[in-house]
Amino acid sequence: MTREEAFDSVKANIENGNSIKHMLATEAIMRVLAKHLGEDEEEWGLTGLLHDIDMELTEGDINTHSKLGADLARELGANETMVHAILCHNEAHGIPRETELDKALFCVDPLTGLITAAALVHPDKKLAGLETKSVIKKFKQKGFAAGANRQQIALCSEIGIEFDQFIELGLTAMKGIADDLGL
Ligand SMILES: [Fe+2]
Repeated sequence: MTREEAFDSVKANIENGNSIKHMLATEAIMRVLAKHLGEDEEEWGLTGLLHDIDMELTEGDINTHSKLGADLARELGANETMVHAILCHNEAHGIPRETELDKALFCVDPLTGLITAAALVHPDKKLAGLETKSVIKKFKQKGFAAGANRQQIALCSEIGIEFDQFIELGLTAMKGIADDLGL
């Protein structure tokens, strides 16, 4: 599977622009993390890009979300490591996170929303001027972007990354595709 094939499939299955941006942001962060950790950048990036591909097909049904996505990813040519990470990123299935890729996708997923929300309350609504410390400050405000699960983000410790560095890597990754994100 090429990156182009994966992205074409995302666009064929997802209409919501914000959902596509979420998957692009997840991809970007996963690539930066893989590089930082010496993991396979393409494998991690494509897993991030594809992880919510079934979001609209499953219509918010938590019991089928990520199961269908895992099947779609497999059909596209994703390996079983990638398929497993996509499958277990939805905790509703009760499938334990085993690999570094499983754990990375899980903690990255809610980080994109936190960073996006932090950018949108920034005076110029852009990522460029946003600093790591501002995002950390927002993380500590419970009511801010409440949908971004703080405990889940903090699980970056499971892949051996300090919290502050995780935020910095995530922010750097998203700044790298700011135009695609419209931020
Ligand atoms: Fe997601």
